[in-house]
Amino acid sequence: MSYEIVVIKGDGIGPEVVEAALHVLIETGIKFSYIEDEVGYEIFKKEGTSLKRETIDLIRGSDACLFGATKTPFDVTNYKSPIIMLRKELDLYANIRPIRSWPGIYSLKKDIDFVIVRENTEGAYCGIGGVFASTAFNMRIITETGSERIVRYALELAKKQGRKKVTVVHKANVLRETCGLFRRVAYNIAAEYPEIEFEEILIDAMVMYLVQRPKDFDIIVTTNLFGDIISDEAAGIVGGLGLAPSASIGEKVALFEPVHGSAPDIAGKNIANPIAEILSAKMMLEYFGENEKAKKIEDAITNVLKKGTFRTPDLGGNSTTDDVTNAIIEEIVK
Ligand code: NAI
Ligand code: MG
Repeated sequence: MSYEIVVIKGDGIGPEVVEAALHVLIETGIKFSYIEDEVGYEIFKKEGTSLKRETIDLIRGSDACLFGATKTPFDVTNYKSPIIMLRKELDLYANIRPIRSWPGIYSLKKDIDFVIVRENTEGAYCGIGGVFASTAFNMRIITETGSERIVRYALELAKKQGRKKVTVVHKANVLRETCGLFRRVAYNIAAEYPEIEFEEILIDAMVMYLVQRPKDFDIIVTTNLFGDIISDEAAGIVGGLGLAPSASIGEKVALFEPVHGSAPDIAGKNIANPIAEILSAKMMLEYFGENEKAKKIEDAITNVLKKGTFRTPDLGGNSTTDDVTNAIIEEIVK
């Protein structure tokens, strides 16, 4: 059995952390064939789009995509973030972001452990907007189908992982149409899962509760923009973006990428924390059903963090990306 993976390294620290993840994947003994492709601003300058049609087709025909991160220039008209386009084009509707405490790493509370399930294709990121003279707008589109499948995904994930509660996060008191629909659909679907506790929390209160009582959460399901924002916050209470992986899952294919971006402030210095990308690769193995190998990677990371000898500066250490990657590999081959 061999898996065909499309690798997109991207910009900034993207190539550094993807290289690290590829090194770790070799050590699992699983066979992969890799096809590297490019998206982003360099492609945009040549082709007028940051994401080529061929790239979309390539990923569609593969087993999965391993993605680093891309930078999005603010001031280029008509530029669209390729990762947002990829999620939409490939219909990767479920963005799964596990949040957990790690041994030896500062955590706001002990043993935090929950999963954010972010709707990944619609909402405020639907890509429709405009500027007229001195007024600008972005549409926020929420559909019944989109809401139903993401809430169902969250409830099914709760069942699969033996979790007890699903929290739906919205702002239906103000965004009455869009969040109103999301909330209504959520309650309808939740009624099919009486064994799972279901609660709702407004987004503004939720950002406070994530700091005050993060251990009360099991699975959080929310719309695209809210999910984007709370996942960086959630990463921040358990050690930061350097430890936060994600999986973007569709019906036919999936893409694995860290929560973080291209981190231009630390790029090219060999100090980026590779763990978020390596954990994303680990989620890819779980997606393939390679659970034993996935666990080996997670255990290796746990041991490296527990020992504390090799840590990148974001975790208070002074090790390089390579040091941490090699330490993880050493734990795997042990
Ligand atoms: P960022 O996530 O790149 O960085 C935020 C902060 O976290 C920075 O201080 C950075 O040094 C730190 N950080 C991030 N990843 C780290 C790692 N692996 N190890 C150690 N420290 C790490 O977000 P920022 O700076 O707001 O955005 C930079 C660029 O990335 C922008 O162009 C943005 O559009 C893009 N971006 C791309 C994403 C993607 O490709 N999926 C996601 C988020 C942002
Ligand atoms: Mg984000």
